[in-house]
Parts: sequence; structure tokens; C-alpha cells
Amino acid sequence: MKIAILPGDGIGTEIVAEAVKVLKVLDLNLELETALVGGAAYEAFGHPLPEATLKLAKDSDAVLFGAVGDWKYDTLDRPLRPEQAILGLRKNLGLFANFRPAICYPQLVDASSLKRELVSGLDILIIRELTGDIYFGQPRGRRIATDGHFPGAEEAFDTMRYSRPEIERIAHVAFQAARKRKAAGGEGRVTSVDKANVLETFQLWKDVVTEIGQQYPDVALDHMYVDNAAMQLVKAPKKFDVVVTGNMFGDILSDAAAMLTGSIGMLPSASLNDKGQGLYEPSHGSAPDIAGKGVANPLATILSAAMMLRFSLNQPDAAARIEQAVDKVLTQGLRTPDIHSEGTTRVGTVEMGDAVVKALG
Ligand code: NAD
Ligand code: IPM
Ligand code: MN
Repeated sequence: MKIAILPGDGIGTEIVAEAVKVLKVLDLNLELETALVGGAAYEAFGHPLPEATLKLAKDSDAVLFGAVGDWKYDTLDRPLRPEQAILGLRKNLGLFANFRPAICYPQLVDASSLKRELVSGLDILIIRELTGDIYFGQPRGRRIATDGHFPGAEEAFDTMRYSRPEIERIAHVAFQAARKRKAAGGEGRVTSVDKANVLETFQLWKDVVTEIGQQYPDVALDHMYVDNAAMQLVKAPKKFDVVVTGNMFGDILSDAAAMLTGSIGMLPSASLNDKGQGLYEPSHGSAPDIAGKGVANPLATILSAAMMLRFSLNQPDAAARIEQAVDKVLTQGLRTPDIHSEGTTRVGTVEMGDAVVKALG
């Protein structure tokens, strides 16, 4: 089983090193090959997603990704910016289904910014469509306006669009995930988040999700506008089970959901294509504000590696071992600064990774 390791920029290199350490002690027959991506690849090769990196990702059974980006690249032409690397990987590999599970470990209820009773026992799954929407819609660009409020003025525009098949396939993913959760004792409900009250794109979204839902009579379906969903996420997050939404809304709602779990440093993700190939990365970014300080939380990346073993490499036992080891280090009271609370032990990135390795037994 071949895995492409793409650490990227900022804390990406620090957190991926810890996940690699964990993978290496699992005694699986894994071939790990590392490549540059993002700002690091731009520095070395003049491009954030070099051909060789893309080829390695395509030829691998799975990709473990850290994060890309730094403020210093924000003035580059857009095709050269680090963020284009992750967008290019998603597009080129067809990774349309992004799973972002928000689980609040009982040990971390006091690390959340919400009251403990609101997050205690939280286990929700955000499914974000990842290759469409306003992120990829054409046309986009800058021009001189010929109409609108200020003809003759400079304007910029992006295009929000979804086709029926794009919505159908992500809806199937969501209903099947809810069905699986129901079989495992969960509620089995999909909340489709849209903005159908204003946007044509999301009226089609709502219509298509409703149609597909009829094929899953065992799964409950409800619809919620995205503004209300943002509010409900912080008001009563446990009322959600599976949330399915578009690329842009999913980006925003999943960062909000991260804080229900204690920190964005706890939120793993899996991005899958229709062949089961996947890219695994924490939901957070390169955190330039803490990069190089050895304090980043590696657990979202380590938990992403566990998702990789389960979803792409058919190693559910190894995945469970990692998850149990994470649970154990939290029970031991070890905390990076982002999840630290009174009475727990503050550790750095490397100490946390070492502790997970030790807890694997
Ligand atoms: P960010 O997620 O990098 O950081 C937001 C905040 O969360 C920061 O205060 C950071 O210190 C904290 N944080 C993030 N991960 C953490 C961790 N593991 N442990 C402890 N604290 C953590 O978002 P941002 O600051 O808006 O963006 C920084 C850069 O990352 C930008 O260039 C952005 O484009 C990029 N980015 C990349 C990805 C990706 O590669 N998939 C995702 C999001 C942002
Ligand atoms: C994420 C990030 C990316 C996104 C950026 C870096 C392109 O925020 O993975 O959530 O917007 O999808
Ligand atoms: Mn994001």
C-alpha cells in the first residue's frame, strides 16, 4: 500500500511528522513517499503543485496531507498561491466527498468554548461537497463593470453553480453515511443545508436532495437554511446527525463545528473520490501564527491517518488502535495549548505524538 505524504507549509510539516511516526510503528506494509506541496513546492520548483507531486498523489492508494499557505504568498498570482495545490489535488483526483466528523471527546468537554452540557456526547458528521460550487465555477475574474450599481468601476465576480449529477452523488454519500450510523446505533438523519430561499443553485440542491432522499425511506431528511444552521450549530449542536452541504457553506460550518470539539486541532477529514481513493488532512490550515513553535496539536492529523486506514486501506483494526491511543493520551491528561484546561498537563507537538505512539502498546 503506497501512501503519498505531503506535509506542505507552516505547522503542516510538524503535525505530519507525528502522524508518520504513528503509521510507522503500526507494523503494516506501508510504502511512504514524501513530496513538496504548497509554498514549499513553489520555493523549490516555482509551482505549488508540481507535476511530480500530482503524479505521486494519483499513483498512491491514499494521500496524507498537512496544510498549505502563508501570508507571504498572498500577493502572488492566484495560480501560484499555495492554496491552489490543495484545490488542484481535490479537482484532479475527483475528491468530491469530504467527511468532517466533529466528535467531542468526554475528556475535552471543558476545552470547548460552549457549555459542557451542549457539547458533551457530541458526535456529528459534516459532509461537504468538495469539487463544485463557487470554488470552481466559471466564469470568474476581474473586469470593468458595464452594468450594476457602478458601471465603469472595477468589479470582481465568481460563479456559484452545481449540476444535478454533482448533487445526486453527494446526496447518496450522505444518505449512505446516515444509514451506516443508524446501523451502528445512531439516529440516521440527514440535514441538508442550503440557501434555497435566495439562490437558484441551492433550490436545485434542495430539490435534488429531496428526490434522492426518497430512495432512502429508512433515513430521515430535513432541510435548513445555512444562516439558521450556523446558529443551531452553536445553540444545540447535538440535534444534528449528518449534515450535507455545498463546498462554501461546508468550509465555514466545519470550522465552526471544530470549536464544539475543543479545538480545530481535533478535527480530521477524509476527501474521497468514486474509486475509494482518498486524501486525508486536518480541517485546519498551516497556522502561520504558531508555526515553528512546536505547539501545534497533531491529533487532527493523526486521526486523519486513522480515517485513511479505515476508508482507503481497509485496515479498520489499525484505525481503531490509533483512535484508542488518542483517547488514552487524553485520559492521561496530556494537552497541547489549544485544548489545555485547568488540571491537565501542557505538552508540545512532539511530546503528544510520542505519547500516542506509546499508547499504541
Ligand atoms: P488556520 O486553520 O491555519 O488557523 C486558524 C487558527 O487556528 C490559528 O489561530 C491557528 O493557530 C489555530 N490552529 C490551527 N490548527 C491548529 C492546530 N493543529 N493546533 C493548534 N492551533 C491550531 O487558518 P488561517 O489562519 O485562516 O489560515 C492560515 C493559512 O492556512 C492560510 O494561508 C490559509 O489559506 C491556509 N489554509 C490551508 C488549509 C489547507 O491546507 N487545507 C486549510 C485552511 C487554511
Ligand atoms: C479547507 C481550507 C481550504 C478550503 C483552502 C485552504 C483552499 O480552508 O480545507 O477547509 O477553503 O477548502
Ligand atoms: Mn477551511
